[in-house]
Amino acid sequence: MQYLDEVGCTVAKTEAEADVIVINTCAVREKAEQKLWSYLGELADIKKTKPYVKIGVIGCVASYKKKEIYTRFDQVSFVYGAREEMPALQAYLTDLVVGLESTKQVYAENPQLSVDSHQDRDIKEVVARKGLFAVSRLSKLGGFKQHALKKTSAVTPAEPIKEVGRSYINIMTGCNKRCAYCIVPVTRGQEISFPMDEIVQRVAHDVANGVKEVMLIGQNVNSYADPVTGERFPELLRRLVALEGTFWVRYISPHPQDMTVDLFDVMAAHPHRLPWSVHFPVQSGSNKILDAMLRNYTIERYLEQIQWLRDRMPTATISTDIIVGFPGETEEDFLATMAVIEKVRFDLVYSFIYSPRKYTRAAKMEDDCLPEVKGARLEALQKRQLVIALENNSRNIGKKLRCLVEKRLEHGKLLARTEGNVRVIFDGTENLIGQFIDLTIISVSPQNMHAVLSSFIQ
Ligand code: 5AD
Ligand code: SF4
Repeated sequence: MQYLDEVGCTVAKTEAEADVIVINTCAVREKAEQKLWSYLGELADIKKTKPYVKIGVIGCVASYKKKEIYTRFDQVSFVYGAREEMPALQAYLTDLVVGLESTKQVYAENPQLSVDSHQDRDIKEVVARKGLFAVSRLSKLGGFKQHALKKTSAVTPAEPIKEVGRSYINIMTGCNKRCAYCIVPVTRGQEISFPMDEIVQRVAHDVANGVKEVMLIGQNVNSYADPVTGERFPELLRRLVALEGTFWVRYISPHPQDMTVDLFDVMAAHPHRLPWSVHFPVQSGSNKILDAMLRNYTIERYLEQIQWLRDRMPTATISTDIIVGFPGETEEDFLATMAVIEKVRFDLVYSFIYSPRKYTRAAKMEDDCLPEVKGARLEALQKRQLVIALENNSRNIGKKLRCLVEKRLEHGKLLARTEGNVRVIFDGTENLIGQFIDLTIISVSPQNMHAVLSSFIQ
């Protein structure tokens, strides 16, 4: 929400201090959605004491539960889905922020006024009607920005927290796969890739402005195809390798079906631009379950791809996503998943209990696996994975690894990440934040490594 920064907004420490609360939502598992409902309930109280506060919901739940949110929650002023155009939301929000100053004043002078429960049900219509346009609007907001900055600096000396410059760039959106458990194709719709030239320009721009790590994002990032030329994901990486500057490019999340040798070849040839770390979601180790999930690969094929990767990048770290307790998963199927984590020895596993989502194929499948059994499977997997991660990290003790320093942690130490995206904690000075440095690993845990400074790289 950089553009809100530009109109003088600062991040509030608590919801009670905020004038605008925007909730970004995820629909992948039901738990997150449940949390949204209770959170919105809690926010109703804030509106009672500060009636001018604007509450908005954006993201995937906003996409497919728009009507329900507007009807159930009066306190919500706007809802904007994940697939709707960002410039309209930006224009709407900047206008809303500017308008808020005078609304606040009205409420300050007339505290007896009742709660403002106005809802903007069609943001694009508001933007069109008011003739708002994000870019031209932003440049006209200098006065407001200065005013707001003056105000905030009078209250708290504006001391921005120093963090590494990182940019997240959507290179494609939507998904044409149809994994049986997944709601993303419903909330995000069909795949759309953005023009490669624009992505490359955006990366060059961000790097010129101090960004040290670029994260390319897409639901299915490696099925990217330039809408202009048809060029695929490895070609995009080649273009980014050719840019000037010292920075890393990572990407998330690929699908095994679209994983090519070519992609690993580009990464292998350019370790300092494309650090050797791959997120490679397997979901299950059982062919029966992979088939029921409609993942379009067998475990043998997946392991073959892991071998391509290891042959080219022996020191690469690999992370994955695993779902346990998918409908029909037997003990044998689960043990097949456990066998995969032994074979691959992932560095990080994001593991989830299957969560039935309405509108998906899996929601209609019969599920006779007991919740306690699913819980026990998740626990067993996580317990074993902790040991594997610890053993993997231990191999780095005494080694000098190239790292990018991210920020200072609350307890005072600095946090950096290796090329393999593993967290490294060490003592150092503020000026190291945003620098590439060599760190020597002295001790490890499953999630972190501890290190001392070896040298600067520039
Ligand atoms: N239940 C559990 N986990 C899910 N994921 C996606 N949908 C579900 C679901 N219905 C997991 C998958 C995916 C990750 C982002 O979330 O492992 O890769
Ligand atoms: Fe969901 Fe499968 Fe698409 Fe990933 S590839 S977003 S899991 S449908």
